Amino acid sequence: MGKWTETDIPGQHGRVAVVTGANTGIGFETAKALATRGASVVLACRNPDKARAAAERIGGTTEVVRLDLASLDSVREAAEEIRDRHRRVDLLVNNAGVTGLSGRTEDGFEIQFGVNHLGHFALTGRLLDLLLATPGSRVVTVSSIGHRFGRIDPADPQSGGGAYARSKLANLLFTQALHRRLSGTDTISVAAHPGGASTEVFRYSSPFFRVPNLVIARLFGRTPAMGALPTLRAATDPGVKGGDYFGPAGLFEIGGFPDLVTASSRAHDVQLQQRLWAVSEELTNVAYPKPARHS
Ligand SMILES: NC(=O)c1ccc[n+]([C@@H]2O[C@H](COP(=O)([O-])OP(=O)(O)OC[C@H]3O[C@@H](n4cnc5c(N)ncnc54)[C@H](OP(=O)(O)O)[C@@H]3O)[C@@H](O)[C@H]2O)c1
Repeated sequence: MGKWTETDIPGQHGRVAVVTGANTGIGFETAKALATRGASVVLACRNPDKARAAAERIGGTTEVVRLDLASLDSVREAAEEIRDRHRRVDLLVNNAGVTGLSGRTEDGFEIQFGVNHLGHFALTGRLLDLLLATPGSRVVTVSSIGHRFGRIDPADPQSGGGAYARSKLANLLFTQALHRRLSGTDTISVAAHPGGASTEVFRYSSPFFRVPNLVIARLFGRTPAMGALPTLRAATDPGVKGGDYFGPAGLFEIGGFPDLVTASSRAHDVQLQQRLWAVSEELTNVAYPKPARHS
């Protein structure tokens, strides 16, 4: 296949997609492209006003659910609301993320690990039976090139420097661990990263970090819409397999159109995946249902 673009997204009529952090940036572009192709899209966002404004700009069939990933209570309530409204979930896009932010979540977790990983871990667990009941469903988790710098001590996954890189490594460890759990079912777990994109993602970062990153994103033509393409391919390309990881195929995986990319060897460390999974279940108090396998 040549350049994969939005025009390659198959029709999404009859499908329900949940996109976290859909009010702006890559999440907004992901939600917009899915709604344009006919999906019914749930914008799962922490600020309902921003989300409603985004829904108006998107058009199509959209709805808003309040989701603050920095609160396990909010994650539970959001999942309950989605379950009340929908009998199926075809696509869960774990997109929302923060970087350059310090502090704690409502439940006392380091904020980047809490929002980027634990919040999504809990949300996915609480929606998994709906996903499993929906033929051909997918969980897409958005990571970053930065995962390569991540280190995780499973005994204490919230400590040490490099919080963002650690959370993005956690996204990939989660993707692979979930992929294994889903083996033999009709649901797949995949990942994507945008390369770079000129979004609001560096809003909490110092200018020293923010400015060069935005300059690089602009030089490589990384609009939010370009940044969303790897997610959209992971979410909709019929050829995608469980465990796949998509990113821009160009120089340094920053620019270009989406294709399969390789995660760091650490992201494929099965023991680390299993230990992070156990710690995440313990911290979130979310126990995943055991999937019934096809014979
Ligand atoms: N842009 C890049 O260069 C880049 C590179 C690598 C990876 N990524 C990843 O791409 C994903 C999307 O980022 P982006 O670039 O689109 O950034 P963005 O423009 O800052 O959007 C981030 C989204 O996450 C939401 N969010 C933040 N904290 C949240 C919380 N506690 N609960 C629920 N939602 C929350 C934000 O909501 P509010 O607007 O209400 O704050 C916003 O909708 C992230 O996972 C990021 O790590 C981006």
